[in-house]
Amino acid sequence: MPATVIMGGQWGDEGKGKLTDALAARASMVVRANGGSNAGHTVQTHNGTFKLRLVPSGILNPHVQCVLGAGVVIDLPTLVGELRALQSRGIDTSGLIISDRAHVVLPYHKELDRLEERRREQDEIGTTLNGNGPAYADKASRHGLRMCDVIRPEVLRRKLAIEIDSKNAQIVSVFGDSALDFDALYLELIDMAEVVRPMVVPTEVVVQDALHHGEQIIVECAQGAMLDIDYGTYPYVTSSSPTAAGACQGAGVAPRQIESVVGVYKAYSTRVGGGPMPAELLDETGELIRQRGREWGVNTGRPRRTGWFDAVAARQTSRLNGVSEVALTLVDVLDVFEEIGVCTGYQLPDHVLRHVPALLDEMEGATPILEFTPGWNSDTTAVRSFDELPANLLRYIGDLEGHLGAPVRYVGVGPDREQLIDRHG
Ligand code: IMP
Repeated sequence: MPATVIMGGQWGDEGKGKLTDALAARASMVVRANGGSNAGHTVQTHNGTFKLRLVPSGILNPHVQCVLGAGVVIDLPTLVGELRALQSRGIDTSGLIISDRAHVVLPYHKELDRLEERRREQDEIGTTLNGNGPAYADKASRHGLRMCDVIRPEVLRRKLAIEIDSKNAQIVSVFGDSALDFDALYLELIDMAEVVRPMVVPTEVVVQDALHHGEQIIVECAQGAMLDIDYGTYPYVTSSSPTAAGACQGAGVAPRQIESVVGVYKAYSTRVGGGPMPAELLDETGELIRQRGREWGVNTGRPRRTGWFDAVAARQTSRLNGVSEVALTLVDVLDVFEEIGVCTGYQLPDHVLRHVPALLDEMEGATPILEFTPGWNSDTTAVRSFDELPANLLRYIGDLEGHLGAPVRYVGVGPDREQLIDRHG
């Protein structure tokens, strides 16, 4: 059972890209399972820093076949731009394949994302405005166009003509905005589809064949489990399932083929966009975490909200996803703190919550119950083995393992490949 899922255990931006890049060294295939150009995966190698949005984070390992699975939504301009940027830096992208079942993000999806957010005014989700929500909505309501459609000009013309009429009606009459032009959109799409056409295949067959031959496969999720559409803080979530179960579905891998689920957690919490975050720090401690962790969105440049490690949320995602190993990232960000907080419960007026409630009003009104542990107050960025980590950090890791119910195997002490410590050596 050689498949490993790499998923974010918090609100995204946990450093999944870096971990995927590192573990891909021992794999033959990396399959991206969900999300679209809303993701921003940063990988740093000796050739510099790469910011990936759609291309799987295994691409910097020359022997790895990269796959965009059926659960991903493809924004063609972003994908084509990303491929060209990688090629211009000497990265071989010829092995990338794209599921013919993957849905396509169209310009009207981006338009509707923007208009819908504007309509929500003060109560916006804070989406990345990449059209992901409307694209997944079309997928669910069976109005989506897939890669198998856009690479066939006649099929594209027929299906796009139907969809654009109803989308334009919505854009004009509901939102009072300008209609999109069919011809311009069609011509742009066939141009871009031509570039990726040779890559479009039934990826689930390729993935299953690889598993059948005993190859090591990594399934890479985007975003984080607290943004899951079912178990996240709905409606302040993304529109896919960035979970272990969603990874199976999106990649075309059966649950029984999964050997391990690596949950990636930051040593503290961050969140971008709206929605409750009980452990948020709105003071200078939160600002120091933001500065030290360079917590600004990879694509959007938005400052991320910061807070102490939320063990309530983290325990929930660990349990629901069967996390078998934890990667604790950005540990060095906490190198300068005298003491470090962990949120172990949400205090409500008459009781304490130990799980993430469905009704967000409860979470929004909650006060975090914080437990403090002494900091290690030393520079960890040069540490390369688990046993050499400072004693107070080891104690902090032990505390988190207790909350997560899973062992911490990887510890990230900086952005470079070498700064990811594997406890197993
Ligand atoms: P959407 O996925 O663009 O629709 O945005 C929905 C929510 O998910 C917003 O709060 C976004 O900030 C958040 N989100 C989407 N993608 C990412 C990501 O890659 N990292 C962190 N947050 C994300």
